[in-house]
Amino acid sequence: MRTISTLDDLRSARLSFSGTVGLVPTMGYLHEGHLSLVRRAREECDRVVVSIFVNPTQFGPSEDLAKYPRDLERDLSLLEPLGTDLVWTPSAEIMYPKGYQTWVEVEAISRPLEGAMRPGHFRGVTTVVAKLFNAVQPHRAYFGQKDAQQAAVIRQMTRDLNFPIKIVICPIVREADGLAMSSRNVYLDPEQRKAATVLFRSLSAAKELYEAGERNAETLRGKMKEVLAGEPLAEMQYVSCADYDTLEELDEVKGKALLSMAVFVGKTRLIDNFVLG
Ligand code: PAJ
Repeated sequence: MRTISTLDDLRSARLSFSGTVGLVPTMGYLHEGHLSLVRRAREECDRVVVSIFVNPTQFGPSEDLAKYPRDLERDLSLLEPLGTDLVWTPSAEIMYPKGYQTWVEVEAISRPLEGAMRPGHFRGVTTVVAKLFNAVQPHRAYFGQKDAQQAAVIRQMTRDLNFPIKIVICPIVREADGLAMSSRNVYLDPEQRKAATVLFRSLSAAKELYEAGERNAETLRGKMKEVLAGEPLAEMQYVSCADYDTLEELDEVKGKALLSMAVFVGKTRLIDNFVLG
């Protein structure tokens, strides 16, 4: 496994690869969720490239960029035994050279949900992912369903910009009690960690209603809110029952739908989702 930070080294390593190349973009502080993407890439591709870059442009001014958890040594020790070929750790100066002024922006599908709560977030994500795609030139790129809207936005960008890359979306990896794995879970103290299971409980309650035949989206949103309101340490930011493809809020669930939510537990913002149908 090679660890590379400059673009010149990345390009010469990339030129030496034959066969299919899989890319797993990450911001590091890896957990089983990230590793599941690397394993899937390992199964499906001849070469596996993992990028680790805490992308400043996708953080809002009041978000956690400065304190975002980082541990490169540990990340490398987790990636090596999985058969990762190359880890790319570019610097902010490489990704955003002085005077930087070029952005990739996906329109409608970036606007609701996370886009509404985190203005500019997806512009940062799509810009950095486009740059990673250009630099690594993978055949396949792996993303998690954990960030459902991010996955949808990246699929849209890939189609719109004609990137010859297959986007593979992998299932959410959860802790034993249902909490979706996230680098941000380390911010939770033990009491908050217990409270954080409320996202999974809330989504499960709505799914149970759906499975019992409920199709009124407002009723499903109401059930999620009710369960969240029962947890004093949790503060809801939004709950949504939206069309799976357009992410527009539904009145009635007919085809595939996305239940999703953002919830503050203390100062930590957590997101989670289930797919219906
Ligand atoms: P990061 O939060 O590090 O996540 C990297 C990838 O891991 C994303 O595709 C994310 O959806 C996936 N992932 C995170 N938790 C997961 C879980 N519990 N189960 C399955 N997959 C999970 O998402 C980003 O970084 C950045 O926005 C990035 C795409 C790298 C652009 O900067």
